[in-house]
Amino acid sequence: MPVSQDALHAALSTVIDPEIRKPITELDMVQSCTCDDSGHVDVTVLLTVSGCPLRDKITADTTAALMAVEGVTSVDVTLGVMTDEQRGELKTKLRGGSAEREIPFAKAGSLTRVYAVASGKGGVGKSSVTANLAAALAGEGLKVGVVDADIYGFSIPRMLGVEGRPTQVDDMILPPVSHEVKVISIGMFVPGNQPVVWRGPMLHRALQQFLADVFWGDLDVLLLDLPPGTGDVAISIAQLIPGAEILVVTTPQQAAAEVAERAGSIALQTHQRVAGVIENMSWLELPDGTRQEIFGSGGGRDVAESLTRAIGAPVPLLGQIPLDTSLRIGADEGTPVVLGSPDSPAAVALRGIARGLASRARGLAGRSLGLTPAGR
Ligand SMILES: Nc1ncnc2c1ncn2[C@@H]1O[C@H](COP(=O)(O)OP(=O)(O)OP(=O)(O)O)[C@@H](O)[C@H]1O
Ligand SMILES: [Mg+2]
Repeated sequence: MPVSQDALHAALSTVIDPEIRKPITELDMVQSCTCDDSGHVDVTVLLTVSGCPLRDKITADTTAALMAVEGVTSVDVTLGVMTDEQRGELKTKLRGGSAEREIPFAKAGSLTRVYAVASGKGGVGKSSVTANLAAALAGEGLKVGVVDADIYGFSIPRMLGVEGRPTQVDDMILPPVSHEVKVISIGMFVPGNQPVVWRGPMLHRALQQFLADVFWGDLDVLLLDLPPGTGDVAISIAQLIPGAEILVVTTPQQAAAEVAERAGSIALQTHQRVAGVIENMSWLELPDGTRQEIFGSGGGRDVAESLTRAIGAPVPLLGQIPLDTSLRIGADEGTPVVLGSPDSPAAVALRGIARGLASRARGLAGRSLGLTPAGR
């Protein structure tokens, strides 16, 4: 009796690709398999790359699996190599159907809270706030990542004292870790202190790569340090991670507050949530304990109130961070003030904000759980 194709296929489906760890039939690696009347099987298996070090194992496993089929008397395995197109299809299959690498944080059911730290004006302390919140959240035991999305004015690696460079494994980038925070920045890819001159589409592509190609693992919180203003990067983030929430940083100054409001209200157009407002450089504490309001007062509160009105949902003022020399020194030395001088007024304020954010991390309210039935 001739051996049926079903029996041959069933046998081949027990052969597991040693690298990808899936059956070779599922990976479309079996090009052909025929059996003649004498029970001799000719099978052609396509390898992903020609120099596959595991070709002997695949040959042996395929032979053994087919020889176990009743009626098979001998097996001849021919190894071929996938075409570029076939390899592309395989990658797409492995990524669950999408040809582009996916951004894990953009998937339904992602439990990572993503905060984009934005402001209107430059120099109000976005990067300082990002670095310190990251370090403080990691200190609370959360798994934290930071993307320095300020491509032109990257400053996060220095503030977090990152010394290592990313490691590349195939097309995956492993981010360096500092103070328990995974950090990626364009500054790690340009030699020295060279200026980066990129246009919008390249910025978008770089951000996409930071989000999709970097192996972040299972993060609780991802912070994105945005460049000042309401430009390309903010819109790219909204497109790449629609669920990212915005943290608006402002100083108490009215002029700064008005611009911060504009940065926050971009959320109206992108349908993002504004998680809250952080007022930085709120006052300077004098040796006698009094507060000197160098940049005036009320900016943070005003921004929170007007964003609440504009968006129609409560936008809280999450905290006020005083001016503090130790914050600036910590940033220059690569040890965030929340770690280096944890009792300083700025560190206390920053930790308070971080705790507030930590307690709402991993919330499931209003989110799809994205569960897959067991056994699939
Ligand atoms: N609360 C503070 N007390 C003292 N110095 C501060 C404080 N916040 C920020 N700074 C200092 O102000 C400068 C600007 O801060 P930072 O770089 O964080 O702002 P930024 O909003 O990210 O700026 P840019 O718009 O250029 O990205 C830095 O030198 C920083 O150390
Ligand atoms: Mg900055």
